[in-house]
Amino acid sequence: MKIAVVGTGYVGLVTGTCFSETGNEVTCIDIDQAKVDSLKKGKITIYEPGLEPIFDRNRKDGRLKFTTDLAEGIKEAEVIFLALPTPPGEDGSADLKYILGVADQIGKVLDHYAVIVDKSTVPVGTAEKVHAKIAANAKVEFDVVSNPEFLREGVAVEDFMKPDRVVVGTSSDRAKAIMERLYAPLVRQGNPIIFMDERSAEMTKYAANSFLAMKITFMNEMANLCELAGANVDNVRKGIGTDSRIGKRFLFPGIGYGGSCFPKDVQALGKTAQEFNYDFKILKSIMLVNEKQKVKLIPQVKEYFNGDLKGKTIALWGLAFKPYTDDIREAPSLYNIKALKRAGAKVVVFDPEAMNNVKKEVGKKVKYASNMYEALEGADALMIMTEWPEFRTPDFSKMKDKLKNKVIFDGRNLYDLHEIKAQGFEYYSIGRETVK
Ligand code: UDX
Repeated sequence: MKIAVVGTGYVGLVTGTCFSETGNEVTCIDIDQAKVDSLKKGKITIYEPGLEPIFDRNRKDGRLKFTTDLAEGIKEAEVIFLALPTPPGEDGSADLKYILGVADQIGKVLDHYAVIVDKSTVPVGTAEKVHAKIAANAKVEFDVVSNPEFLREGVAVEDFMKPDRVVVGTSSDRAKAIMERLYAPLVRQGNPIIFMDERSAEMTKYAANSFLAMKITFMNEMANLCELAGANVDNVRKGIGTDSRIGKRFLFPGIGYGGSCFPKDVQALGKTAQEFNYDFKILKSIMLVNEKQKVKLIPQVKEYFNGDLKGKTIALWGLAFKPYTDDIREAPSLYNIKALKRAGAKVVVFDPEAMNNVKKEVGKKVKYASNMYEALEGADALMIMTEWPEFRTPDFSKMKDKLKNKVIFDGRNLYDLHEIKAQGFEYYSIGRETVK
């Protein structure tokens, strides 16, 4: 099948590359000339494990092409994916200017029937808006379909190739048949394509992300209560996660969720509710709790140093919003850096992948260590922000040699309480007793 993907950001590039892997002829389109040049030369523009080899192979085999020319890119394409940014506008609602701008252009140049697919996360009613925009100029028949993505950064290729489900919102049988054919290789193992109307598909994406954000947030509040009540949230997590109605996943408490999706989507769903005059109370709580949770350890750090962080050096392990990514969007680490600096502390940071992004964002306000132990050299305390595997089994003796005080503030519950006690650390984590 011949397909086009407009937008070569994270979602677009994964979508285009993976569809070329299943044998389609894919053209990715972007207005950014430098990006397109780099992709044409075989230089991948995002960090995503497992993507590069399939990107290379399909590009070399001529199944994956790049252009800045929309008309050329969508020529003969049966399916045209829109994978464009939907940044939150000032009021928190998703800004559709990029999507509607491209829809307008498509309407002007489309010369054959095509299925135009909203892949970006877009609010309810967007498929209708995109349809109207294209219809204003189009001289040919077309359908607009909503097909939200559920990719997790770090495992996006696997999520794409073996999806739990594919959601397709369309009221056209013709479009349905085409989408069924396109996705057939990905749902062979029996995972369903769920067809529904466009509005429900759009709502499904927000419901999924907000529900997951709620699950995490519930556990974060549970953890805070466990600390006060003398319970251990890890035990509670295991105790409830084994109930198949609850499920084991997304129950790990910590210093809040971040990333490019959850914060934005919870806010946007709240905005949608507001538009329909519905007071969606739980969404407001999720956002409030998460903001507080991100800097939950700061008061404990301050208390440890008797309320005065001036001149103290705090080492941070982990900057990315989660492991296996260099993404720092809405990362708890950034909020902690800000809070520590505001309190007069010096900050030295280390992350296996996200250092460059933090350099761009934070600049010289913090020091950058070249490895996890160097960050501890002469530091007064360690804070852990991201659960990278290399932080899980560190050389504790080396840590003790380098740190001025044997104290760890762990926002990701990496260590066993008995072990940390045996190692002689003072240890603060989330929802568990403090080891002193
Ligand atoms: C998420 C959705 O999972 C994905 O389906 C959607 O398409 C995009 O948004 P992603 O942002 O890549 O994906 O990250 P995810 O792995 O879902 O984690 C989100 C945040 O939740 C991270 O900050 C992570 O640290 C946090 N989290 C996750 C927890 O705090 N506890 C958990 O148990 C799980």
